[in-house]
Amino acid sequence: MNKKILEVKNLTKKFGDVTAVNTISFSIDRGEIFGVVGPNGAGKTTTIKILTTLLPPTSGEALIGGYNVVKNATKVRRIIGYVPQMLSADGNLTGYENLLIFAKLYDIPSKERKKRIIDSLHFMGLTDVADKMVKSFSGGMIRRLEIAQAVLHNPKVLILDEPTVGLDPGARDSVWEYVKTLAGKGTTVLMTTHYMEEADAMCSRVAIMNRGNIAALGSPHDLKISIGDDGASLNKVFEYYIGKNLDSGVSEGNFKDVSRTRRTTKRLG
Ligand SMILES: Nc1ncnc2c1ncn2[C@@H]1O[C@H](COP(=O)(O)OP(=O)(O)OP(=O)(O)O)[C@@H](O)[C@H]1O
Ligand SMILES: [Mg+2]
Repeated sequence: MNKKILEVKNLTKKFGDVTAVNTISFSIDRGEIFGVVGPNGAGKTTTIKILTTLLPPTSGEALIGGYNVVKNATKVRRIIGYVPQMLSADGNLTGYENLLIFAKLYDIPSKERKKRIIDSLHFMGLTDVADKMVKSFSGGMIRRLEIAQAVLHNPKVLILDEPTVGLDPGARDSVWEYVKTLAGKGTTVLMTTHYMEEADAMCSRVAIMNRGNIAALGSPHDLKISIGDDGASLNKVFEYYIGKNLDSGVSEGNFKDVSRTRRTTKRLG
């Protein structure tokens, strides 16, 4: 069996004059939690949209489970789960009803739906709120529901775009506990984040992206060694490769996070 579950080869995406993703290559082994970090506009979401078959690349290719994301898009969709950067749950439905929509979307046989939904609510710690409207959920609960939606069909690869943006530290930790448990059960995870400590603690390997390019890639430990300081923070590694501290990006990110959170709240009514 091929150890590599995800392979990206010379992937490029251009929007007119903007090269959002510039000839990037990397691969992810089965069972990894792989992180992509980078400032706003680095090309993280664009890469993820190509991998989730939502956006065609300009050139290059990507394979998941051996399937080409362009030529075998249907097969790829069956084996991935996706939690987008923007809200993917409906505030005016209950947790259970949101999951039912996804169960239908994923063609889970009607006889199995109820059990799968109940199991996933239980797994994500949402049993008690299953029949409450999602607009009454906290940010962390919404994120956990979105993860439950994304893994209902037992995907081999779970792809999360900024899963903890706008969450307080407690809610972030809880989301990560669930993601780690999923990974422990054999799900491969690809995630993006602005939070360096999170990437450091969670990821087997990290790609540092900037302006469409991968500036550095390796385990957090190897990345620290690569700058000659194995006691460094990942933020320092980032600063070394990108030439600026992510704090500047983060404050931008924070502002964005707030407006995103507000937009989310607004959409949830
Ligand atoms: N549909 C689009 N049309 C034109 N340009 C786009 C489009 N989507 C993204 N871009 C541009 O591509 C670049 C990469 O954007 P992308 O959303 O992938 O970055 P990101 O790393 O996810 O950023 P963030 O941290 O803000 O989410 C940016 O310059 C962005 O403005
Ligand atoms: Mg993004």
